[in-house]
Amino acid sequence: MNKIVIANLKMNLDYKEIIDYVAEIGNTIFDNIDLFIAPTSIYLGSFNGVKHKIIAQNVYCNDKGSYTGEISPKQLKSFGIDYSIIGHSERRNIFFENDMLINAKIKACLNNKVLPILCIGESLEEKDSAKMVIMDQLRRDLNEITNIGDIIIAYEPVWSIGTGIVPKLEEIESRISLIKELIFNKYKANVKVLYGGSVNVDNINEILNIKNVDGVLVGGSSINPIYFKEMLNKFKQ
Ligand code: PGA
Repeated sequence: MNKIVIANLKMNLDYKEIIDYVAEIGNTIFDNIDLFIAPTSIYLGSFNGVKHKIIAQNVYCNDKGSYTGEISPKQLKSFGIDYSIIGHSERRNIFFENDMLINAKIKACLNNKVLPILCIGESLEEKDSAKMVIMDQLRRDLNEITNIGDIIIAYEPVWSIGTGIVPKLEEIESRISLIKELIFNKYKANVKVLYGGSVNVDNINEILNIKNVDGVLVGGSSINPIYFKEMLNKFKQ
């Protein structure tokens, strides 16, 4: 089964750099990898016709209306976008998104057949109680959602994002197992779970080869298309 790799470009690259990115990566196929690219939303259309899935970094919880600066799941769907990242730790921490809003966004996406990629994970201060934090986030973010099987989860310890610090492989494996187990026990659904946080050219192969890891979410290492290509070519199953 192919592994999923999500390139989260965040608020990086200007228009010319995006055009170069599309030229470099757009039509390159990577062995055993399904590549999803999440550009800044104004550039979603610049990826028309590429061979990869183009997805949103964020979305709002209503279909339309007076919400200056926001994008709705309905708008995404009508533009051919089938997935959105939801609840990234930068949205939670910098833009104060809480679990209630994240839950509403997931529901709105599912109503519009935009599949959510829900990010969860503990902060540095919460490291000793990571299990509790993960359980709480899942309980609140997935509250009253029925089609859980349509959701992808990204486990991203906040202390690993952009820091170069990666948990031990056994730690990643056990957190991912915990998430899969919690969801299966409660909803009888199997979900794909990705790991995110400081994935780079040196560790992608071992992380993607952890047995229960369905893929990775990559920030910083996805921004330079030449480096990113080299990194994706490193993956051998
Ligand atoms: P990073 O970011 O790869 O730069 O650590 C990951 C993320 O923000 O999802």
